[in-house]
Amino acid sequence: MSQSSPVDPAKLAAARAAVALVRDGMKLGLGTGSTASIMVRELAARVRDEGLSLRCAATSQATADLAESLGIRIATLDQIGWLDMTIDGADEVDPDLHLIKGGGGAHLREKIVAAASDRMVVIADPGKVVEQLGAFPLPVEVLQFGFETTRTLIRRALEGLDLGDRAVMQRLRGGDPWITDEGNFILDLHLEVIPDAPALARALSAIPGVVEHGLFLGMCDLTIIGKADGSVVELDREEGVDADLLAGERGWQS
Ligand code: A5P
Repeated sequence: MSQSSPVDPAKLAAARAAVALVRDGMKLGLGTGSTASIMVRELAARVRDEGLSLRCAATSQATADLAESLGIRIATLDQIGWLDMTIDGADEVDPDLHLIKGGGGAHLREKIVAAASDRMVVIADPGKVVEQLGAFPLPVEVLQFGFETTRTLIRRALEGLDLGDRAVMQRLRGGDPWITDEGNFILDLHLEVIPDAPALARALSAIPGVVEHGLFLGMCDLTIIGKADGSVVELDREEGVDADLLAGERGWQS
């Protein structure tokens, strides 16, 4: 595996464990972010070494470019139709395997791809595990049209959830607005804690200028937490997550 920067061993462990789930002939969704990039490199190595025949859709242009550069052919989601599995990273994972995603600005395509998959597998390092979602600013992709109006409506929605004093910041890159792959802006909601994630998700989805928020509720089937020593802990939603085990991975008390 060749990369310019050193690979985080915890992310690598999670990525390898997820790639080990891949079987010849599978239709895969490829996530976005630093952990997903490691996964794509590991997957490319298997494709090269084992001659795996896969059909892959990417959750961002960046991932598509990386995969193609490593010899993984990318098709559009519509060309493939339905996916066996999507492997993606996350910014936060809670004990119910609810997620915050979108730190890389790709949560819209990530959610569409995950929703078109039999199984969503999340790969993460222990720092992503939280007792309650919200410390990571929640990304919300919004249309450029009526941007300030949409921000006002988001603030009103937050007031209705007793979160009215939280900052709603436009994401910038190099001083300019961050533009997503779909040509939209991103607002980052600095909520600190999200007491009722389903209520927030409903409130945000009801705002016309909101394209998609970064709450992934009930979508993740399996979370693989990699550790620095190369071992992994797997949390399967169907089997139920042992909150004490998860707390131990992160260091918080359940
Ligand atoms: C991309 O938009 C995100 O959803 C990423 O999956 C998430 O931010 C995790 O990224 P890292 O693996 O770089 O932490």
